[in-house]
Amino acid sequence: MNKKRNKIVFKKKILVALIILFCNYLQAQTAMVNVQSRNLTSLNGKWKVIIDPTGIGDWRQVWQEKKPQKKTDFVEYSFEGGPELDVPGDFNTQMPELTYFEGTVWYKKQFSHTKREDKRLFLYFGAVNYLADVYLNGEKIGSHEGGFTPFQFEITNKVKEGNNTLIVKVNNQRKENGLPGVGYDWLNFGGITRDVGLIETNNVFIEDYFIQLKKGSLNNVLGWVQLNGAKTNQKITIKIPELNLNYKTKTDDKGFANIEFSSKFTLWSPENPKIYKVAIESETDAVDDNIGFRSIEVKGSEIFLNKKPIFLKAVNIHEENPFKGSRAFSKEDAGILLNAAKELGCNLVRLAHYPHSENMIKEAEKMGLMVWDELPIYQHIKFSDSLVPKKMEMMLKEMVTRDKNRAAVAIWSLSNETYSSTPNRNDALISLTQKCKAMDSTRLISHVINTQGYGDNTFTVRDSLYKYSDIVAINEYIGWYIPWQGKPSDTKWEIDFPNKPVFISEFGGEALYGNNDLPSDEASNWTEGYQEQIYKDQVKMFKTIPNLAGVCPWILFDYKSLSRMNQIYQNGYNRKGLISENGEKKKAWYIMSRYYKGK
Ligand code: GCU
Repeated sequence: MNKKRNKIVFKKKILVALIILFCNYLQAQTAMVNVQSRNLTSLNGKWKVIIDPTGIGDWRQVWQEKKPQKKTDFVEYSFEGGPELDVPGDFNTQMPELTYFEGTVWYKKQFSHTKREDKRLFLYFGAVNYLADVYLNGEKIGSHEGGFTPFQFEITNKVKEGNNTLIVKVNNQRKENGLPGVGYDWLNFGGITRDVGLIETNNVFIEDYFIQLKKGSLNNVLGWVQLNGAKTNQKITIKIPELNLNYKTKTDDKGFANIEFSSKFTLWSPENPKIYKVAIESETDAVDDNIGFRSIEVKGSEIFLNKKPIFLKAVNIHEENPFKGSRAFSKEDAGILLNAAKELGCNLVRLAHYPHSENMIKEAEKMGLMVWDELPIYQHIKFSDSLVPKKMEMMLKEMVTRDKNRAAVAIWSLSNETYSSTPNRNDALISLTQKCKAMDSTRLISHVINTQGYGDNTFTVRDSLYKYSDIVAINEYIGWYIPWQGKPSDTKWEIDFPNKPVFISEFGGEALYGNNDLPSDEASNWTEGYQEQIYKDQVKMFKTIPNLAGVCPWILFDYKSLSRMNQIYQNGYNRKGLISENGEKKKAWYIMSRYYKGK
């Protein structure tokens, strides 16, 4: 009997191992860096779709695109006769019936390909929210989970000469053990929300590289280059023509090379966002990039940019084009959001609460805006679920891989408003912090927390997670969710982390632009006057905060959030913007702009 049971257990174990193996085999790869400078063929444009509210498409095996074989046959799905959607773009704002849709949409795109000797082919996605199952010519090539980071699949041996059919099942349903979890205060824009393309490479290509100043240095670059392919012992050259720099090294048999060189850089800063043309060359590949060099560090309770103390004049931004009310993705979208941040007087943008598009990061870098890059580990996360730490690590790797060569990116933010009472929260986030430091030790790491106490006009900041953060980032909504308990200028602070810079990562309150007739001393009137007073009081309180190194209003523009259901003032909008979704500046905007002018 025991023998029989052991056999069954053993068989089960094998089965589970095989399933995991198969899933890993089908798992998307971390995308190669800097795809824009590769041999990229865009697949953006109109894609045919099948909207699948019941989710029956799996059972019908839509990716097979079955056709009737005999007179009695019929097929109860087709892309023909159906709508088309733009890619990139969220699906919610493209068809009224999809406005609030959270479910499955099947996307189809056909492309023609000419196979070439000694070439490899990759299918790249900038982002798909939330789950993507990808099929090529009826065969599943893999899956990806997470709505805000890039991924790829190698299809060298799967692509056909001539016509190919790509089908992507996109599902944006919320997941208990997802990142984010089930509840979040922004609209769950679903779809293929960023660029899609085919990348053709040589058999051995430059997959990844890290070229940034060594921690604490203003002229020593410490980095590496990673080749992908068979013959990977190759000569590597890093060229920065403007600096007459021509650095040479060699990769080891794993295709890896450390790089270390010095030069007299004009450092990147908000005042002077200096970018250098950098060429990374191997014997079989070459990639061009535009890279800035700067050092960012914390010393005691201050933040130093290029060895000078800096005050972070920041603002929170959601990845939404306010005028279209749609998920932002283009350079133009980025321009709208970032120009408004510049006009407010900012030197940093907190891209809440997930990695925004590469366009956003690169435009911020050009405009001299430091970037706060954040993972959607937001509020109620199921840290005790065994899959969650793996998902967190994968998303971290995808974010850091994509953005680590961007000088503008100053802070990796690994969580927002998680709770110490949530099982396994501390362990999971501490281990994630260590993994982040191992991937990149040159930037600051932060966890944003709102578990502070506020009693008798005194803040008590104790959360032990701050031990693992380079800064003490606090979300507080005194004056809105929590009334003042005394004069703002008399506020007291008990912070258990006296030698760390303090950053107010969120504060503010709501107002409907133009709504100024009702008494402005009542919150429920959503007047600009009430919001303005919150800002006046917060600015007074800022003077009481020890080691204050920056502030960041919630939020630049009013934005869509379906949990905001006051139908007189909110109508599905979080109205904490300093600017309305029509670009109108509220009274509070002027308080903040004046404060930043004074800094
Ligand atoms: C939180 C949270 C934001 C949210 C904001 C609000 O602090 O981090 O995502 O939108 O508060 O309540 O408006």
